[in-house]
Amino acid sequence: MARIIAGIGSSHVPAIGAAIDNKQTEEPYWKRVFSGFERSKEWMAKAKPDVAIVVYNDHASAFSVEIVPTFALGCAAEFPPADEGWGPRPVPVVKGHPELAAHIAQSVILDEFDLTIVNKMEVDHGLTVPMNLLFGSPAAWPCPVIPLAVNVVLYPPPTGHRCFMLGRAIRKAVASYPEDLRVVIFGTGGMSHQISGPRAGLINSKFDKAFLDNLTRSPKKLVDIPHLEYMREAGAEGIEMVMWLIMRGALDDAIEEVYRFYTVPASNTAVGHIILENARAAKAKKPAAGKSKNKRPAAKLKRAAARANHRNVLRGR
Ligand code: DHB
Ligand code: FE
Repeated sequence: MARIIAGIGSSHVPAIGAAIDNKQTEEPYWKRVFSGFERSKEWMAKAKPDVAIVVYNDHASAFSVEIVPTFALGCAAEFPPADEGWGPRPVPVVKGHPELAAHIAQSVILDEFDLTIVNKMEVDHGLTVPMNLLFGSPAAWPCPVIPLAVNVVLYPPPTGHRCFMLGRAIRKAVASYPEDLRVVIFGTGGMSHQISGPRAGLINSKFDKAFLDNLTRSPKKLVDIPHLEYMREAGAEGIEMVMWLIMRGALDDAIEEVYRFYTVPASNTAVGHIILENARAAKAKKPAAGKSKNKRPAAKLKRAAARANHRNVLRGR
């Protein structure tokens, strides 16, 4: 059976991609940003997922304003990088996983989420920048990717609750796929930012950090945040954060936060990043409690193991 082992939240600022492509990652401004993803790349190299589902938004690259699907699932065999004005980014073509994507489409649509099935699509910075941040810049991406493009550019975007429930439906779909695949799911975009208008440059670290806290501990508190609150508190483009709720909905209730990073700014945006492991996946890595001579109660042991695991991830073990 396939299963989702972890969720990754990450901003997807285009200037981060430009910094990589123009070899500016060692410049102090950019080093501050990239240094926060060093541990994440180590985590990913160890996690070695078989497939990644990347929830992102298209920024008028694949879809013009003529047609904007609310949820578009990439079912193609490959997705070339889009030309966003300076030619396509020099990143590998993203290889898809048409079989799992078709299975997810069937399961989720029969569960009454009306996805748009996309058999040809170019992918922009919304997808390629988080790929770089977690996988580095290899000659070929190390695993197939299923893109899920969400409309957050043209009113009305889906609600946070709808996104969370779609995540739940994706979790069910993955769990019913017969092949033994380990899947990670990305939620990209955000955190607070506003690119144009009188409030351009707005950043709200307090809102962002509370969002990260609740994503781990009480995601149900996030699902009812109305669009206007995202706009007011996190800026017009802060609405991208609803996509993180698809990722969270696809995880189990019991998760472990194994890594978090937050820095301000990159371009106009607060960069947020989090790695959440499904507890079952995290437990598989922990020392067996039975072997310990320590007679501490199970809950205490569990907390201690979680802390040790957290420290190990931070140290890159
Ligand atoms: C910026 C951030 C984004 O998420 C985006 O899609 C475009 C631009 C920025 O900070 O410049
Ligand atoms: Fe964006």
